[in-house]
Amino acid sequence: MNKPLVILEVREDVALVCIDNPPVNALSRGVREGLVKALRQAAADSRVSAVVLYCAGRTFVAGADIAEFDSGQPSTEDIHELFGLLDGYARPVVAALHGTALGGGLELALVSHFRVASRSAKVGLPEVHLGLLPGAGGTQRLPRLIGAKAALELILSGKQVAADQALALGIVDEVVDGDLLDAAIVFAHRVIEEHRPQRRASALPVNPASVPAGLFEQARQTLAQQRSGNPAPVRIIACVEAAVTQPFTQGLATEQRLFGECLHSPASAALRHRFFAEREVSKIPGLSGNLTPRSISRVGVVGAGTMGGGIAMNFANIGMPVVIVETTQAALDRSLGIVRKNYEAAVAKGRLSPAQLDQRMSLLRGALDYPELAECDLVIEAVFEDLALKKQVCARLGQVCRPGAIIASNTSSLDVDALAQASGRPADVLGMHFFSPAHVMRLLEVVRGAHTGTDVLSTVVKLARTIGKVPVVSGVCYGFIGNRMAECYLREAEQLLLEGATAQQVDAAVESLGLPMGPFRMLDLAGVDVVAKVVIERGKSGQLLAGPTYRAVALKLMELGRYGQKTGSGFYRYEGRTPLPDPAIEQICAALAARHGIIRRHDIAEQEIIERCFYPLINEGAKVLEEGIAYRPGDIDVVWINGYSFPDYLGGPMFWADQLGLSTIAARMDHYAAQLGNEHGYWSQAALLKRLAAAGRGFASLTESELGGATG
Ligand code: CAA
Ligand code: NAI
Repeated sequence: MNKPLVILEVREDVALVCIDNPPVNALSRGVREGLVKALRQAAADSRVSAVVLYCAGRTFVAGADIAEFDSGQPSTEDIHELFGLLDGYARPVVAALHGTALGGGLELALVSHFRVASRSAKVGLPEVHLGLLPGAGGTQRLPRLIGAKAALELILSGKQVAADQALALGIVDEVVDGDLLDAAIVFAHRVIEEHRPQRRASALPVNPASVPAGLFEQARQTLAQQRSGNPAPVRIIACVEAAVTQPFTQGLATEQRLFGECLHSPASAALRHRFFAEREVSKIPGLSGNLTPRSISRVGVVGAGTMGGGIAMNFANIGMPVVIVETTQAALDRSLGIVRKNYEAAVAKGRLSPAQLDQRMSLLRGALDYPELAECDLVIEAVFEDLALKKQVCARLGQVCRPGAIIASNTSSLDVDALAQASGRPADVLGMHFFSPAHVMRLLEVVRGAHTGTDVLSTVVKLARTIGKVPVVSGVCYGFIGNRMAECYLREAEQLLLEGATAQQVDAAVESLGLPMGPFRMLDLAGVDVVAKVVIERGKSGQLLAGPTYRAVALKLMELGRYGQKTGSGFYRYEGRTPLPDPAIEQICAALAARHGIIRRHDIAEQEIIERCFYPLINEGAKVLEEGIAYRPGDIDVVWINGYSFPDYLGGPMFWADQLGLSTIAARMDHYAAQLGNEHGYWSQAALLKRLAAAGRGFASLTESELGGATG
């Protein structure tokens, strides 16, 4: 028999209603039904003078069951029966909060008459991150409890607040140390003895002092400037405004209507996809759950340049000592100086205390020789992107590191298997591809070599979560998942310049889709020289399937010393950090076009730019899948959202492709192959794309048996 999700126990005069729905006590249909049943039973029990609502396990209800939103069963229908029952309940109901009371979970607490929280508890309404708004009365009850301004801020930001702050705001009535359930029962007894009436949020007026003039107008203006594709924020503002201007039941109806609009929007579907995809990435197909992870408590970093210092910070941030090896004392001093500056900036913003700064800096130790790494459990090399040098470094690490230590490379393009062989202990080796700035960017591509030990892989995936990263496993190939796909995007962007588009036109088209920066502003920021060198190196290795115009503009700009922002000119010219159109680029591109016999056009429309930049990228994503470089389409989406700022409300390139329809993409690829010629295979479709498009299927329909390969 299934374990009940809700258990009722009557202890003297208090009914204890316990929700037990692991892992996070989501308010699924079974829980809602169980709660209605238990509350009705308690209402009919003459011994009961009050109810305490609490949860088993690690947390109070963390929200509605998000999976239900995609299952086609509207999950809010019977929520209102439950919430109506609770609101009007004849006896006081005390909610006891621990862990994270989020979304529908916090709303469940808000419809209860009193709230007691553990000191470690956190509360919040994070629905906005899913393209939703609190749809169980949260937008109406919270402003009545804590005022319109504070409620609006909390719901728009989706932030979690700690129990003490929740108390100060008026979200909870008491914060307790020690046993929460005991404290909630004591609280309930106090309510009974003092004959305190139920405090129904629905019956409270919104405090007029909490609604400064222009509150909603200003919020709408701020939102308009953000140009977000998330449908929720504008509707959240409307709901909180309704809480101020409409009676409760009418406000609730407004909330319902606007919640429905959000729920059925493609953007919310995309954001929900992101939520689950970001969790699924840690599930490695074929890996036994019984693997014992290797213990990591001391880390080494070799090479403290742009990446090494940031990588080291990740570990110091969680209290792990780090040894950083460089070639000169000057390089070490420079790197530690930058790390200190980063921490000082965090102190200035109030995110770190001066004591924490000192503690973190004390965990970082510089060294000029490899034997210092002997005691490390994990060593990450981040020396120059040079295969011969990296092989030497890995060979040294193979000798110096203790048996069982993991050796990782931060290479962004080189062959991890070759490095693994060089180490002499390939089972201990894998890639840890951090993104720049390494202490900020959430993405970590974990590159699984042909011989990487499964325990090594699972250790690093877990460790990545500990340092706050989202790990995505990639097989070995040029550029792994992200940079490999980015190559096609950058190739087409530059090709468009040769054909007559301007850099600002291409950037504007890409930015209109929701990326914060188009390809040319991005290249100017990253350094045209850095990017061009990668193309040159790849060319030398014979890996380029490319024509003579491949990345020709970047190569030319490097030759001219136009390295981007740092030299004051690149694809743009710069006044400070402001990019300005530069007629010189037009001339450079026209000359290159003439040399290569490219006819320039002046009719390149935004839609063409978007299709030509992104459809080859999606096509490459299909190749990454069919080769088994990525486990799932969702993994690719996670890479692009977290590593390349692809708009989350489009769900990532593969989810977006499914929305556009793969047959549409395939047809447009054929169109461009015919229009532009396909001498170098740029417009050849991946077999997977072709097959799915012909069958009217999307990437999301791929089954486990259709996926997998090189990574497995
Ligand atoms: N619904 C369904 N599944 C959920 C869930 C939810 N609300 N919250 C978490 N889960 C699942 C996760 O998918 C994950 O499943 P797997 O183990 O199978 O991957 C599991 O619970 C554990 O989640 P995490 O890995 O995220 O665990 P964590 O300890 O790192 O974080 C958490 C816990 C803070 C609760 C985090 O899961 C979280 O933020 N959850 C979502 C909270 C949320 O957005 N709530 C609002 C829902 S919408 C809503 O409530 C609408 C409404 O108004 C009615
Ligand atoms: P960098 O040039 O800024 O730093 C490299 C550092 O390694 C230098 O400080 C150098 O003194 C040191 N070094 C060289 N040989 C050494 C040796 N034998 N022992 C110890 N230290 C040595 O390079 P950056 O940008 O930090 O790149 C490092 C690695 O990270 C490369 O593999 C690169 O591809 C990768 N990467 C870089 C990204 C970026 O945006 N810069 C992003 C992701 C990965």
